[in-house]
Amino acid sequence: MIVLDKEHNVFTLHTQNTTYQMKADQYSVLLHTYYGPRVSGGDLSYLIQYADRGSSPNPNEAGHRRDYSLDTLPQEYSTCGVGDYRMPSIEFEPEDGSRLADLRFAGCELRKGKYSLEGLPAFWGGDEWETLVVRLRDGSAGMLVELYYGVLERYDLITRAVRVVNQGTSPVRLRRCASLCLDFLGGDYDLITFDGCHVMERCPNRAPLRQGVQSVESVRGTSSHHHNPFVVLCEHGAGEDYGLCYGAALVYSGNFLAAAERTQLEHNRLLLGINPYHFCWTLAPGEAFTAPEAALVCSPCGFGQMSRQFHRAIRENLIHDPLQGRRRPVLINNWEATEFSFNADKLVSIAQSAAPLDIELFVMDDGWFGSRDSDRGGLGDWVVNREKLPGGLEALVPRIKELGMSFGIWIEPEMVSEDSDLYRAHPDWALGVPGRPHTRGRSQLTLDFSRREVREHIYQAIRKVLDSADVSYVKWDMNRSLTDVWSGALPADRQGEVFHRYILGVYELLDRMRRDYPDMLIEGCTGGGGRFDAGMLYYTPQIWCSDNTDAIDRLRIQYGTSFCYPVSAMGAHVSAVPNGQTARTVSMETRGVVAMSGTFGYEMDLNETTPEEREIIKGQVAFFKAHYDLIQRGDYYRLTDPFREGPCAAWEQVSPDRREALVSLVTGSAHAAPPFSVLRLKGLDPCLTYQINGQGAYPGDVLMEAGWPLPMLQGDYQSMQLYLSAV
Ligand code: GLA
Repeated sequence: MIVLDKEHNVFTLHTQNTTYQMKADQYSVLLHTYYGPRVSGGDLSYLIQYADRGSSPNPNEAGHRRDYSLDTLPQEYSTCGVGDYRMPSIEFEPEDGSRLADLRFAGCELRKGKYSLEGLPAFWGGDEWETLVVRLRDGSAGMLVELYYGVLERYDLITRAVRVVNQGTSPVRLRRCASLCLDFLGGDYDLITFDGCHVMERCPNRAPLRQGVQSVESVRGTSSHHHNPFVVLCEHGAGEDYGLCYGAALVYSGNFLAAAERTQLEHNRLLLGINPYHFCWTLAPGEAFTAPEAALVCSPCGFGQMSRQFHRAIRENLIHDPLQGRRRPVLINNWEATEFSFNADKLVSIAQSAAPLDIELFVMDDGWFGSRDSDRGGLGDWVVNREKLPGGLEALVPRIKELGMSFGIWIEPEMVSEDSDLYRAHPDWALGVPGRPHTRGRSQLTLDFSRREVREHIYQAIRKVLDSADVSYVKWDMNRSLTDVWSGALPADRQGEVFHRYILGVYELLDRMRRDYPDMLIEGCTGGGGRFDAGMLYYTPQIWCSDNTDAIDRLRIQYGTSFCYPVSAMGAHVSAVPNGQTARTVSMETRGVVAMSGTFGYEMDLNETTPEEREIIKGQVAFFKAHYDLIQRGDYYRLTDPFREGPCAAWEQVSPDRREALVSLVTGSAHAAPPFSVLRLKGLDPCLTYQINGQGAYPGDVLMEAGWPLPMLQGDYQSMQLYLSAV
């Protein structure tokens, strides 16, 4: 519910459990007054204290009043060059070269429903949303800044976006435009970021804020393996089930900056948005720029609640699921089994080994096109390699379908190999500065997706392939970070637009594909989880979580990922052992337990499994299908932290009506004489009684308070699942 007190210019956003408030004061400065647990309302600006602080300047209208400074007041959207020395939200440069942004309140408007952003992914939905638009203006520069707020009450979700319009008569260069600025008066907070590298993505790092700026960012053109555009600010003591925390996710897949600043007064500011690095967008008179959306969830009772609210909102109001609530198929992918060396018979033999185990979708990975026999060539030539696949997809796909399976295909549209017909014909279509040698990544170059003709060519070629057979799934991969970012289509003074135009181009093509093939499931992938963000999830309902398929490393990767993103978004497969990344051998049971807390599939040649393993696989597939809704759409509880030493890693899914739950656990390395330990379950109905794996009768409150004794499993990395059903 949004409450506008237009007389006092106090604007209050209520969600089920939280309240957010701002106020335009006597100088029309838009102050942020509160964000936290739900309160009744009123004007919370009484919380703001005014005091003369040395070295904090005063706006002209304040006359000689020295206790009024933008440097010390909580700002809703921070300004630049006019007295606030903390991180600016916006920076623009009119023709005179000045860099001031002095924003004053210029009106607001309440709308039913959710705003949308042209060309950008954003949360969506109907009348369950309300939108507030607040207008700020810098009169001297003729710049209008519209702040958008979307409120989805039931999930405590507040989205924000920013639109900047040049209302002046000459061009203005926009050099910075954050999506989110959040000021907190006082408070001791920790910042949690989700960091890592290729094959070890999204590991949580938590540290107290100290005076100064602490930040994570990407300048790679993707949101990156290294830092995720999702951060949490929380009270020092906050944990899974207690303490105040704020999650902020950027709905964007390119360069980002997430920064927290603790100030001289021990106030805190969080900023999230496009990275100002190599960003400069020219706005001609009348033109507008839209910054991507940021999404906020505040939880007064710990990370678990925050994550579940994000999961629900992402599943129901961000992802476009072509299957609309139906079960997604269990898949088998040939990549780890064959890499580039396969032919049609080999692929069919892998599919044949999977079909009797009730695996439903066969995915042909990299290597099926052009001269793609290694990662040195072929990208850009989206024509079927007829030596490997005689008769093309027209011949292969019916053979897969005869087995009762559907067919999916891997593509990497944004890339080009130097050894390709496409590059030979259009060398200037790769990002690169004329006269400078290219920097390669995985031996490949990046296509200039800011250019329409480049996207058009690639899309038409891929369409031909997709239309040549019945293809129900596409894995959209992207396997390098951007370098040599320069576009032949833009003049020198607009090269600062290329990074953002590139990602807008990616979005445009994904959107076209989604609309042209409304029944097709698109899985995102960027060398594993290098673009695992809310922006991509709008187009690709699932994303390959990591190229690391080792079940034990995956416990950590999937744990970190779960802070923002739901199980149904996490691509996870059982692969062969010893694992290709870690050389570790883990049982088929444990590999299955971990992979089925994701989208679930296999990535190995099942012809090479033993009859016993095949029986286990058959059981896993049947179990997953039987409990699909619970696993994929249930409420997710992290029971342990796999980064800490402990007897096991454990997590739990609970059905929305709390009549069913699934607890999964994986032990660590074995020790003699292990201590006795108990696992306390969460999220159950205290008044219901549950059977566990079809036996006994255990009251929900007992299982949550007293717990369940952990069995003493022998050997390293053992696993088990407890299925709870209310009696
Ligand atoms: C990336 C992906 C893998 C696989 C290979 C193919 O690394 O993450 O899953 O598709 O590319 O080249």
